[in-house]
Amino acid sequence: MTYQQKNYWVVDKTVDNLSSTEEILQAAHHIQQNHVIAFPTETVYGLGGNAQSDEAVNRIFNAKGRPSDNPLIVHISAQEQLEQYVQEIPDQARRLMEAFWPGPLTIVFRHNGTLSTKVTAGLNTVAVRMPDHPVALALIEAADRPIAAPSANRSGRPSPTTATHVHDDLSGRIAGIVDGGPTGIGVESTVVDCSSEQVMILRPGGVTKEALEEVVGQVDVDPALIEINQAPRSPGMKYTHYAPTAPLILVDGDVDYFCEQIIRAQDDGQRVGALITNEYCGMTGANKEVLMGVSTELSTIAQHLYDSLRSFGENEVDVIFAQVFTDSHLGSAIMNRLTKAAGGTVRRQ
Ligand code: TXA
Ligand code: MG
Repeated sequence: MTYQQKNYWVVDKTVDNLSSTEEILQAAHHIQQNHVIAFPTETVYGLGGNAQSDEAVNRIFNAKGRPSDNPLIVHISAQEQLEQYVQEIPDQARRLMEAFWPGPLTIVFRHNGTLSTKVTAGLNTVAVRMPDHPVALALIEAADRPIAAPSANRSGRPSPTTATHVHDDLSGRIAGIVDGGPTGIGVESTVVDCSSEQVMILRPGGVTKEALEEVVGQVDVDPALIEINQAPRSPGMKYTHYAPTAPLILVDGDVDYFCEQIIRAQDDGQRVGALITNEYCGMTGANKEVLMGVSTELSTIAQHLYDSLRSFGENEVDVIFAQVFTDSHLGSAIMNRLTKAAGGTVRRQ
């Protein structure tokens, strides 16, 4: 199905009673009609549809070009809604919900069969989160439906952190866009499995491992996130993701080593992009430098990561070199996304 992109609602996220504004009511009406709408969350923009409707969920997969074996996250607007969709709420999950909802934490539960089987890709579990964004919460409330929403990018592209990114990827393929300004966190939610005693991170994201451990003690990380040849427990983690318009190579070394890679590529006749922190500004000799922020401010780097990956235009450079980050705190999510964007290619000094 193709749509004319006439439904574009600009929403001020600070106004009171958002869920009864004309813009949100119109967007919610489309969700109720099983059409799909992009909307902001605190992490990235989501592409939302009624999680109880096969028709709506099919539209999400089609618009994104997403493989149908990759399940979606279901978004709710109040903790009480959860029990309508899951078999049980384990103790650890309850403590994590208390600590981090609303917020960038997605929890995997055993579902009770009330949601579209397309949402869960036929698994016996469902991933649920309550987003911490007034526009997202208002839309779920006004639609009065659980909203299934992957990131609102074409499959394989960097996730969208502005409505413009969504428009670039999905214009004409979806029923509308709610523009609530740029998102805050910039990387997606952390996905955790609480179905056994030991809480396990399936995807690193906005809530850090260190923060989770303060609430539930030791947390494991899916071994597949560390060892390349293991099958990940989160189906989405096996796909190539976040790809910019030119091949990306991570550079793990000092600034001289970084510059060396650039000079060598230029000697080979390549136009080089550099994805760097502010400390490297003007030092790399690259044909285009994109700055992500100061290296010690990981939250700023996360915020700018996807926009930076998107900022290399088609045919602007032939190769992009990127700095690496510490693999702790928010750095784990940043490194997970960069490694995927690079298809695992790293040069080490
Ligand atoms: O921040 C976010 O989580 C954003 C916003 C829009 O909420 N959403 C998002 O959705 O990142 P998506 O579809 O791009 O990523 C969902 C991830 C995928 O890796 C998927 O495989 C995993 O969650 N997932 C979904 N259901 C699962 C399940 N039942 N078991 C394990 N992993 C699951
Ligand atoms: Mg995604």
